[in-house]
Amino acid sequence: MPSTPLPKLLSFLLLLSLIASWASAKSILRSLPDDPSIFLSTGRSSSSDDQYCDSWRLSVETNNAGRWSTVPEKCIAFVQAYMEGEKYRSDSDVVAHDSINFAKDLTLAGDGMDIWVFDVDETLLSNAPYYAANGWGSNVFNETSFNDWVAQAKAPALPASIKMYNELLGLGFHMVLLTGRMELQRNVTEQNLLFAGYNSWSRLILRDASDIGKTAVVYKSEKRAELEAEGYRIHGSSGDQWSDLLGLPMAARSFKLPNPMYYIS
Ligand SMILES: *[C@@H]1O[C@H](CO)[C@@H](O)[C@H](O)[C@H]1NC(C)=O
Ligand SMILES: *[C@@H]1O[C@H](CO)[C@@H](O)[C@H](O)[C@H]1NC(C)=O
Repeated sequence: MPSTPLPKLLSFLLLLSLIASWASAKSILRSLPDDPSIFLSTGRSSSSDDQYCDSWRLSVETNNAGRWSTVPEKCIAFVQAYMEGEKYRSDSDVVAHDSINFAKDLTLAGDGMDIWVFDVDETLLSNAPYYAANGWGSNVFNETSFNDWVAQAKAPALPASIKMYNELLGLGFHMVLLTGRMELQRNVTEQNLLFAGYNSWSRLILRDASDIGKTAVVYKSEKRAELEAEGYRIHGSSGDQWSDLLGLPMAARSFKLPNPMYYIS
């Protein structure tokens, strides 16, 4: 039986309304931002960016962010302001303060086996001058230009770290420096540490040929295991990367310094 004109019109209208609702659903989906920060504020003013970037920084520092490669475009100015301003200094001071509070309550055997392990870059030494000239972490890491900077041996000390380092020495800890830098960079690294004002470390461990290709977590864990096998007691460990601190064996206490510029796994 052929359909009558009225049902034809109804089904045509129904089809139209289906198309309309499908199109509006599509446009809602299309308008969903990839970037969740848009939900934090109605505008995209610099203050909403600041709020987002501060949350992003917390996520990076807590390792909630996991692996990441470059500072988000809209957080470059935020990272620069953080690194150049008082906040970075203040955050680092509090880490140093907490570390010393822990350290001074310990009883050391005095046999030279009580150690504190320090990372080097962004822990003892600051590469902020390099990152200032290279986008504050918004550029993909360039090993060539970074190594050129390392070879100049003029990275300054982090003020909070050198103070803490000297206080730990005063408390009787022995210092072991464990860095992802290469054995080939031993000389420039020693020169730079001395230039920055560090003295009296017991050992500086760098990656040798057999460590190439290992993640920092694996390489640094292996080195801590070797230190423990030699009888050292690793009371504390300081680093700006979780990969400086995680992995077994771990120090009795690990202290994470801030670094919103790059991530190393
Ligand atoms: C890395 O740095 C070197 C030395 O500054 C430069 O010649 C090269 O073009 C850079 N590479 C990239 C991919 O930017
Ligand atoms: C290391 O630096 C010293 C000077 O500080 C120099 O005499 C020596 O040749 C350097 N060694 C290497 C392997 O570059």
